[in-house]
Amino acid sequence: MRTQEPRAHLLAALVLLAAAGAAHAQTAASPPPVQWTKVSVDLPTSDAIFPAGEGAQIANAYCLMCHSEGMVVRQPPLAKAQWLEEIGKMRKFWGAPIPAAQDEALATYLARINGPGSPAAATR
Ligand code: HEC
Repeated sequence: MRTQEPRAHLLAALVLLAAAGAAHAQTAASPPPVQWTKVSVDLPTSDAIFPAGEGAQIANAYCLMCHSEGMVVRQPPLAKAQWLEEIGKMRKFWGAPIPAAQDEALATYLARINGPGSPAAATR
């Protein structure tokens, strides 16, 4: 009987310690529960094509597969050399499959529709 008592105390102490530890872990480490909500977003769509003119078919074929025509014509006006760089950027960074042989005609067209002195530039 006498030998049992210290063991019982030890056991009780361990149980208390474990319970205190668990309680502490719960209050200190638990972040507020995550609340998920469902939202619905209507993204703008566009079926606009590039302004008619020589080179427009190239732009329609290779620039509308990823984004709208507005993404191109609503940018600040660029000179032909800058459009060439922009075409290169679309190819290099985004993988646009624009044939290099089309670059000249495309950049000429883009500078005409959105270059310094173009009708689009006049509206900004
Ligand atoms: C493979 C997909 C893809 C194709 C094809 C593509 N673009 Fe882009 N373009 C993008 C992405 C992605 C962005 C947005 C980049 C950002 O937000 O940083 C972008 C953005 C732009 C911008 C905004 C300015 C900038 O540099 O971010 C212009 C101008 C542009 N594209 C022109 C064109 C033209 C001209 C063509 C056709 C010759 C074209 N893009 C074809 C993917 C593409």
